[in-house]
Amino acid sequence: MNNEKAVMAKVQEINASTSKDRVEVRVRDLLDRMSLEEKIGQLNQVEASADNVLDLLGDGIRAGQVGSIINQVDRDTVLELQRIAREESRLGIPLLVGRDVIHGFKTVVPLPIGQAASWNPQLVEACARLASEEASTVGVNWTFAPMIDVCRDPRWGRIAECLGEDPVLTSVLGAAMVRGFQGASLDDPSSLAACAKHFAGYGASESGRDYNTTNLPENELRNVHFPPFRAAVEAGVASLMTSFSDIDGVPATANSFLLRDVLREEWRYDGLVVSDWDAIQQLCVHGLTETRDEAAFQAASAGVDMDMVAGAYLQHLAGLVASGRIELETVDRMVANVLRLKFRLGLFDSRPVLADEPARMTSRSLAKEAALQSCVLLKNEGRALPLDPACLDHLAVVGPLANEPAEQLGTWVFDGDPERSVTPLAAIESLAADAGMSVSHARAMPTTRSLDETAFAEAEAIARNADVVLVFLGEEAILSGEAHCRADIDLPGAQVSLVKRLKAVGKPVIAVIQAGRPLTLTSVIDDLDAILFAWHPGSLGGAAIADLLFGRACPSGKLPVSFPKMVGQIPVYYGHKNTGRPPTPDSIVHIDDIASGAAQTSLGMTAFHLDAGYEPLFRFGFGLSYTEFAYSELSLSAVRITPSETLTVAVNVTNSGEVEGDEIVQLYLRDRFGSVTRPVRELKAFQRVTLAPGETREVRFSLTVEDLKFYKRDQTRGAEAGKFDVWIGGDSAAGRKAEFTLTQDSPAMA
Ligand code: NOJ
Repeated sequence: MNNEKAVMAKVQEINASTSKDRVEVRVRDLLDRMSLEEKIGQLNQVEASADNVLDLLGDGIRAGQVGSIINQVDRDTVLELQRIAREESRLGIPLLVGRDVIHGFKTVVPLPIGQAASWNPQLVEACARLASEEASTVGVNWTFAPMIDVCRDPRWGRIAECLGEDPVLTSVLGAAMVRGFQGASLDDPSSLAACAKHFAGYGASESGRDYNTTNLPENELRNVHFPPFRAAVEAGVASLMTSFSDIDGVPATANSFLLRDVLREEWRYDGLVVSDWDAIQQLCVHGLTETRDEAAFQAASAGVDMDMVAGAYLQHLAGLVASGRIELETVDRMVANVLRLKFRLGLFDSRPVLADEPARMTSRSLAKEAALQSCVLLKNEGRALPLDPACLDHLAVVGPLANEPAEQLGTWVFDGDPERSVTPLAAIESLAADAGMSVSHARAMPTTRSLDETAFAEAEAIARNADVVLVFLGEEAILSGEAHCRADIDLPGAQVSLVKRLKAVGKPVIAVIQAGRPLTLTSVIDDLDAILFAWHPGSLGGAAIADLLFGRACPSGKLPVSFPKMVGQIPVYYGHKNTGRPPTPDSIVHIDDIASGAAQTSLGMTAFHLDAGYEPLFRFGFGLSYTEFAYSELSLSAVRITPSETLTVAVNVTNSGEVEGDEIVQLYLRDRFGSVTRPVRELKAFQRVTLAPGETREVRFSLTVEDLKFYKRDQTRGAEAGKFDVWIGGDSAAGRKAEFTLTQDSPAMA
């Protein structure tokens, strides 16, 4: 065939195919024209943050040695790097431009763990969309989010970035983030390729120390840690990142069970797999491989397509191919995964880089709404909240986090603009000025970690002259996030002492806590009249907090993770197993009662702690409102179902209080008996409903056999016939209860 004919044949082939096939044809066509060196270049991601990055990387890009850059967000620089790739490299292959756009870009929305407290997938999707619309204006086309590691250990600093302890909540919200980042179509200029991370088990690092070993049996992996990744794959996530940690002795970055057997074979995933930062090189540090070329071999063989900044593929893959250890076909498969994403993003089709961010008003109102819905009211003794401006003349605003525009943004905000922040102090002052109240402010502590109490006297003085004390406590952004783990998760520094001193003044003390993790609040809980837990609420956090404190909005967030009473309880989570000796309120004793002779140790032959019992301080799904919700008339469409039938479960929810409010109605199941032991409760569905005072709404859920499936003793997924309990209520311990039976096994159940 002469050249012209070959081109015509290719054009005909492309025209005849569907868009998915068309991408495959284009990938194949490009692969056919690439040298081995150019192929390996596509598997290489390089760090690009240096000021002289054009000098540093220009030649490598021209030579086809760079497939992706990470951490450059200057628009002109990104455009120039992209131009070099498109116009000056032999095949003109554009770059993937990666950045951690985790919870907002310039406008910052609440931490992911805070967004999870909204239990609102539409809102979470909109937040990811906003982030992607802002980040794409500087030429970024790939974000390393969502992080969907299930985490049950608040010592782990990265709990800030995850969506909590529950597989279903994480799956639903993670998929929503994927949809938000990727938009209706990946080639939309305002879409980013999402990256589900960190596959898999990273959230279970021993003792909550980042990067630490994980010990996860396969059944636990499959039932708890895999489902969010499966959901992300089903939502079309463009890429996945491997975890830094090892599982059962094999680091995730060299783990072919995870990356081949499960991801590619079982789930039929056709996207890109990238290592975490330098993780291929770290296979040597783990002690899995002695040399870097062996590390490159193991990662490539296991299924890692792209090497994030280690340079190990660039250095060693050609040699591994030459020696016959790695087949060219393997390299082609890896490169195809990179090129496929570039085609899907429209990078070969001159996808424009839009110049304008979304209108500031729109982003501000979304960021505020997200902050409003993410705050969780943990305590409200004697209806201390909401504050009524008509009854207040003077407010004392105290504490190290009342006026910290950068801290309220939280961890993972490389690009967040503190200038866009409205702090709680600023918002309260403005609201107070309108309502004729005066505000005094005393920081009391230079940082949350400070042990210096000298400025407490000033705080006490303004508290004495105030009608109410608003104390802003918690952790700075730096105390959570990657590699920022804590073994003691109490309020740091002298904050507990500050609370006690304020309490002693005798005025109502209301705490607003901003933090990147659940804290153990046992030592202050009795001293505080109300506690609003705001996580790190983002740019508009202060405005949202002020609205909630003064009743302009009603708290509606519910905890996506349990709050332990003390650190020794960890892990404490709602979806635990029953054990052979489950604790009950009357089977437990407290160590103090034993000491005083009031109780016998022999009473306590169940699974509890002598000093902490068995329940957390605040349970998963919990959160108060300014109104009350009553649940009644739980009904089931049937008490026996076959695997092909749908069960409708309905309940009446009444707003029995005096203000409008949102309730997050939660449905939990318990599979009473299984071929493996089953959790005492599992969240299966939830709905956020808005109810006017006095309004009753019937809330309905449909359950199918899919909701009853789990990984069984043989590690296959299916439902097992038998009895199930179902609850619908406002948290993971509450609820109206009923039971139903799934009848005998049938082919449809497999
Ligand atoms: C390391 C982190 O573990 C990962 O989540 C992040 O996306 C990469 N670094 C890139 O910054």
